[in-house]
Amino acid sequence: MATTLIPGGTGLIGRHAAKLLCERGHTVRILSRRARPDVPLLHRLRIEYVQGDVRDPASLAPAFAGCDAAVLSQQFQNFPVENPKRNETFDAVDRAGTEHCVAAARQAGVRRLVYISGIALGNPNPSHPGIRAKLAAEQAVLGSCISSIALRVNVVYAADDKYFPRLVRAARWSPFVPIPGAGTARCAPVHVDDVARAIAHAIERSTISGVVNVCGPDEVTWKELLLAVAQVNAAGQRKIPVHIPQLLLLLAGWIGERLPTPALSRDAVIFATQFDQSCRNGISCTEAFGFQPIGLREGLRIAFGGGEL
Ligand SMILES: NC(=O)c1ccc[n+]([C@@H]2O[C@H](COP(=O)([O-])OP(=O)(O)OC[C@H]3O[C@@H](n4cnc5c(N)ncnc54)[C@H](OP(=O)(O)O)[C@@H]3O)[C@@H](O)[C@H]2O)c1
Repeated sequence: MATTLIPGGTGLIGRHAAKLLCERGHTVRILSRRARPDVPLLHRLRIEYVQGDVRDPASLAPAFAGCDAAVLSQQFQNFPVENPKRNETFDAVDRAGTEHCVAAARQAGVRRLVYISGIALGNPNPSHPGIRAKLAAEQAVLGSCISSIALRVNVVYAADDKYFPRLVRAARWSPFVPIPGAGTARCAPVHVDDVARAIAHAIERSTISGVVNVCGPDEVTWKELLLAVAQVNAAGQRKIPVHIPQLLLLLAGWIGERLPTPALSRDAVIFATQFDQSCRNGISCTEAFGFQPIGLREGLRIAFGGGEL
């Protein structure tokens, strides 16, 4: 079976893709900045880890050697809050890192590239370094002369993501749900298993190329999403939205940017409050791969409804 390299394979999307690809008989290699990453989801699986950094082209050649395919799923540490002093930025990791991966893949004779992109690229959005970097990364992959596909993924939720499980836990004892800004920006959240499924199809069906959207079937506002997540294990308790004004968040972002280790940034606030992540243009998973991602209500029940978070 084909060997697939996953830069970012220890991350949320990457590790679920690695697990599914292994289960489908693929050989999986993960590129990580760490020598010995510990990824509980992958403990029982035969996975090879290679140490490297997408910002360091020299570290990529050994990782790509002998691979048939690659899933580019890296994201800079502390996303979406950039830290330019440590070169943890959209430009360094999303754009330049992807360009370095494409060069290494070409050198190694890789035959299939899957780039994990974002749905916001398909919509009119504020000028933002994340959009610029991801557009350039998509262009590097799709223009690489290697058979390739960009998956524009919507907001992902999972039992092991960094954000939503915290909200579910907090909602057990608090009736208040913090909503950044007005909460009116739209999205179509998708369960991580469906993202992994789309990645497996993208690897296995190399005749499909270009851009494919990976979205859930239910479009909601961020306010509706956060309230729905808070409600999952709350036994019918009424939840009260508490809006944190956009101006206050931007001020906190301005201060956060000036800390030695930025805790928040204005760009991160804009990303969280203003990006249109509705699924309007482009080819869907159903059209490209023949499957329909699970609905939000059922997906939230599967991810967070067990009461064990
Ligand atoms: N999660 C979402 O809701 C979502 C939605 C749409 C699109 N996306 C896109 O999907 C991709 C993956 O997102 P994610 O949420 O799975 O990210 P994540 O959980 O934050 O994981 C990112 C991974 O990237 C690796 N990484 C960080 N810096 C690196 C570097 N310099 N070189 C090599 N690897 C590096 C890290 O691995 P190590 O620490 O092991 O090095 C980390 O495990 C991103 O491009 C993101 O923009 C995500």
